[in-house]
Amino acid sequence: MDTLLLNSNCYDNMIYAAKLIRNGDIVGMPTETVYGLAADARNENAVANIFKAKGRPSDNPLIVHLSDFSEAVNYTSSIPDLAYKLAEKFCPGPLTMILPKNNLIPYITSGGLDTVGIRIPAHETARELIRLSGCPIAAPSANTSGYPSPTSARHVMDDMNGKIPAIIDGGNCKCGVESTVISFDDNSTVRILRPGFITPEDLRLAAPNVIIDKAILHGVSDGEKVTSPGMKYKHYSPSAKVVLVDAKLPDFISFFNSHSGNNVYCLVFDGDEINFSSNCLTYGADSAAQAHNIFARLRELDKIGAETVFVRFPDQKGIGLAVLNRLIRAAGFEVVKI
Ligand code: TXA
Ligand code: MG
Repeated sequence: MDTLLLNSNCYDNMIYAAKLIRNGDIVGMPTETVYGLAADARNENAVANIFKAKGRPSDNPLIVHLSDFSEAVNYTSSIPDLAYKLAEKFCPGPLTMILPKNNLIPYITSGGLDTVGIRIPAHETARELIRLSGCPIAAPSANTSGYPSPTSARHVMDDMNGKIPAIIDGGNCKCGVESTVISFDDNSTVRILRPGFITPEDLRLAAPNVIIDKAILHGVSDGEKVTSPGMKYKHYSPSAKVVLVDAKLPDFISFFNSHSGNNVYCLVFDGDEINFSSNCLTYGADSAAQAHNIFARLRELDKIGAETVFVRFPDQKGIGLAVLNRLIRAAGFEVVKI
């Protein structure tokens, strides 16, 4: 089966995509963060096929996407007041709230947990697809498990051609990193399980206490209990070996020069490239630009045959925390500090 590319601006194409979802098929869907693999969250067969297409471990739960937060009551057993407060400020948008699920969400979707991640995407095409399908939509990022997330329809095609019937092309994703995943420790405390485009500073505007889970930057050891299964797995990695280098620019340059080779590349900030004669790519001048570009650059490095990539350690304030989290995982926690 060849995978069909659909146009998000064509109503007939959107109707067709919704029909596929209602029939239990999977559709590549643009969102403001990254592309997702969308299917009816209530349909166990459809969800099983998502896990199969991605090669994803069955204990890693899928986020359920709704067109409005008012629908969350239909799939959860209780919602804290703080969640409503956050929804008012950040929904629709790149925020996923972990809430207790009800029995309309099957355990295959929640990875065996009693909770479900609820997200209201800001991308108009995603919300239109949810409305036209008339169901809650389970959607993990549309990459092969472990590989960098897709931020264009082309990336989804690269990973999923022949595995899913269709992809809706909605252009490049605006944010470029996935949603911020949070849980509630109590009615005044949120815990960030995965940093994303909504920053800890943003959340503090609406939540009295914001805790950043320590696994975000440190990983988990074998057998350690995790608050979010995704924390356990190697993630976001291209085939090339990624090494994060925490150094001032002059030290980064000498480190890179002493490790140079044909298939050795560096990934640095905009403006740094004038210091390198070749094998250098940039990923943005500030955190928002770096978030927007990071996954596309990691994929590009594989396309040009890079075997090793030394990446300049990003600033970790604001959206930078999400960029750092993705890079640390892409590097399998290998950080060189100079
Ligand atoms: O921006 C996004 O969130 C994208 C777009 C497509 O919406 N989706 C996405 O899904 O990134 P995925 O499956 O690639 O990542 C979901 C993360 C995983 O780390 C998973 O472990 C965590 O959210 N998660 C989902 N449901 C959870 C739950 N009930 N409890 C704890 N963690 C959960
Ligand atoms: Mg993912």
